[in-house]
Amino acid sequence: MANRPRKTKILLDGGDAGETQRTKKLIGFLDGQTTNPSLIARNPEVKRLVASGHGLSVREQMAEYRKIVEAISPLVGEAGVSIEVFADTNTTAEEMLDQAHQMFAWVPNAFIKYPCTQQGLRAAEQSVRSDIRVNMTLCFSQTQAAAVYAATKGARVPVYVSPFIGRLDDIGENGVDLVANIKRMYGPGDGHVAVLAAGIRNLEQMLYCFSLETELMTVPAKVLDDWASNKFPMPDSDFKYTATGKPILYQELALDQPWQSFDIQHELTRKGIEKFVADYRATLSQTAQSS
Ligand code: E4P
Repeated sequence: MANRPRKTKILLDGGDAGETQRTKKLIGFLDGQTTNPSLIARNPEVKRLVASGHGLSVREQMAEYRKIVEAISPLVGEAGVSIEVFADTNTTAEEMLDQAHQMFAWVPNAFIKYPCTQQGLRAAEQSVRSDIRVNMTLCFSQTQAAAVYAATKGARVPVYVSPFIGRLDDIGENGVDLVANIKRMYGPGDGHVAVLAAGIRNLEQMLYCFSLETELMTVPAKVLDDWASNKFPMPDSDFKYTATGKPILYQELALDQPWQSFDIQHELTRKGIEKFVADYRATLSQTAQSS
């Protein structure tokens, strides 16, 4: 069992309460969990329903998501369960907020995930005013993280930003640099946004995030299994990360600018939304898909 790491909270990245239970038993604790539409589509019960020819209505999909979150919630700590709103590229902030208000009431430790887009940031700005905890997902640039900071300034509740490491590696960039750059940029700030390292694909990335002392990291079960089978290593002062791609350079950005002034476009955010939409829609019945 792991000695609880002091600086970084560990969340499971998954959509199945059975897996949460197994992983918690293996490592001895879980501070929280993140879910997303692709992970929910892979939930065993959702897969069983879809495979039996019973594609779900929109309402049933929401009910299944709620059941999953309700089962996970009591198993994890105060870093909470992140629940993602349905958003395609046309979804407005108001539509996201409607979902957020429902989802936030599902469990006492909910965080609402919005994409790092203009509408997602508008929704986050409104959410924190009503004390809804948020997790800004699909973050692929330092400017997006700066916009998250500016849009949520004054929040009385925790705010997370989730830079995705693996998908940057996939396009030949050194994904962990983005996490380091955001940590550095937030360093002199007021601390209202916590960095949640996401898209972790291997133990080395996990160790690197420990060495950066990110406030949180979300890790798939297979990487946590690997951490456990290696007896829960922690990086020492000699730890060196083997860079995988082109370095991502640090940008000097002033965090006191209006969030709308930052260039938040990123191709991977757009692609990520498309993939989440496709995985979500694949769980729906023909009728629900065409509506
Ligand atoms: C984070 O909240 C996401 O669920 C997750 O870390 C995405 O990981 P991936 O890029 O490996 O799909």
